[in-house]
Amino acid sequence: MIDPTPGDPELVLRVTRLSKTYATRVVTGVDWALRPGRVHALLGGNGSGKSTLLKMIAGVVSPDPGGVIEIGGVHHASESYGPSAAAGGRLRFVHQDLGLVDDLSIADNFALATRYPRTRLGAVDDRALVRHVRAQLERRGLDLDPRLPVGLLRPTERTLVAIARAFDGVEAEPAILVLDEPTASLPVDEVAHLFDTIRELRGLGHSIAFVSHRLGEVAEIADDVTILRDGAVVGEGEISEFPEARIVELIAGHPPEGARARRPSGQTVAAPALSLRAFGAGPLHDLGLDVHAGEIVGVAGLVGSGRSSLLRGIFGDLPATGTVSVAGRVLPHAGTGAAVRAGIAFVPEDRQRDAAYPERPVWENLSAAILARYRRFGRLSTRRERADAPSAMARFRVRAPAASVPLAALSGGNQQKVILARWLRADPRVLLLDEPTQGVDAVARDEIHELVRDAAERGTAVLVVSSDLEELEQLSHRVIVLEGGRLVDDLRGDDVTREAITHAMHETGA
Ligand SMILES: Nc1ncnc2c1ncn2[C@@H]1O[C@H](COP(=O)(O)OP(=O)(O)OP(=O)(O)O)[C@@H](O)[C@H]1O
Ligand SMILES: [Mg+2]
Repeated sequence: MIDPTPGDPELVLRVTRLSKTYATRVVTGVDWALRPGRVHALLGGNGSGKSTLLKMIAGVVSPDPGGVIEIGGVHHASESYGPSAAAGGRLRFVHQDLGLVDDLSIADNFALATRYPRTRLGAVDDRALVRHVRAQLERRGLDLDPRLPVGLLRPTERTLVAIARAFDGVEAEPAILVLDEPTASLPVDEVAHLFDTIRELRGLGHSIAFVSHRLGEVAEIADDVTILRDGAVVGEGEISEFPEARIVELIAGHPPEGARARRPSGQTVAAPALSLRAFGAGPLHDLGLDVHAGEIVGVAGLVGSGRSSLLRGIFGDLPATGTVSVAGRVLPHAGTGAAVRAGIAFVPEDRQRDAAYPERPVWENLSAAILARYRRFGRLSTRRERADAPSAMARFRVRAPAASVPLAALSGGNQQKVILARWLRADPRVLLLDEPTQGVDAVARDEIHELVRDAAERGTAVLVVSSDLEELEQLSHRVIVLEGGRLVDDLRGDDVTREAITHAMHETGA
């Protein structure tokens, strides 16, 4: 057990009685400590207060009075703590939303966080900055031009850039690196890359705290764990004391409800709901695929294999060649409008950017895809739209103070659930999901899987891209494997296992 005694020099960071109250109290008297040279996982369900706790330590959310934050032996009363105290203690953060400014270049995003190098005359030295940033990117294995605007990067690249920025300068002296869900949008091979870096930093004596909902990953990398529920610590200690089942129980607050995971048997109905012929988009070429009503087809592949291009091409969000047919009718190459009219729904990977209305209330975000249902005599019944929101929130286990709060006030995972709920409520003919449970806690993840299966049972054809092989195994009737723009495998029945998928993904030249 981590048993911090007061003033323990062994602790690099310690918080005592830390609380945060918005309309209600969301973090309640938390005591938390980090040891040097350890990787510490902060766990808990969506909305349990993880990000809020970390933001208080970063000094960007002001804690309630009465707590203490101690960094490197220096005490700060919670009421007088701010970002400069955090920075002075060599704390580095990668927040859940990454904190990157899309319109600025990668280099300028680095400079925002650290400082612009100056020439001797005091002018900003752009060339020195670009050189410095390029070296930092290379160090993290990223071959990107520092002058590229961050808005042009893929989610994976954005995450890695944010991490590279956080690591900038860290190596020089012992530091505390805090990562809020760094792996949420990373595919497996990138996670391995990140973990190598984390291990390297741990070896140098740095402390790393991170949040993740992927418990397999936690078991792999964490030395210590702390589990939050409803803003309070409900478990802490060394990882060896916390097998996965125990963690899930602590997160949920009750023992697991038995194995609800039913693997559908793969019943198929006559005409394919979705058919691709000689299909090409992005790196994909000459692809043929049929997905039947009621079928859930998983899509596996490494970064760059064309997984997201497949979904975006079908949806008309990316120029495509060949034909896409829905229920036997060929779609015109007419962009997303034609796809939507044919009954295709698409939940993109970068939901925050593509699909959310952060300043609008939760109820509006929930019904954005089914407005037709609320239209009578040409007028929108917002009264009914609002009235239906609580039941949709309950069904999708969205935790929010009320349906009327802006989406931005919800925890990251709860925002994901709202956007997913929006599309699952639309009962589409074809449902395209890109990383559907990214950032979603273990309990809600099962819930979302259940909803996807329900949709399939009602006749929706589902294509789901996921880097989480366990998810593909649990959810799919079939898994297709993409590699370098080609379909290299189509796994069925007993072959739908993590091992077989991994094998197929890494089989080159198959
Ligand atoms: N600015 C805010 N105003 C009001 N309530 C907020 C605000 N930010 C967060 N909350 C609430 O605080 C609670 C904890 O949110 P937090 O983001 O810390 O959760 P989390 O554990 O990080 O969840 P997730 O795993 O989904 O990211 C949630 O109920 C959330 O709605
Ligand atoms: Mg969070």
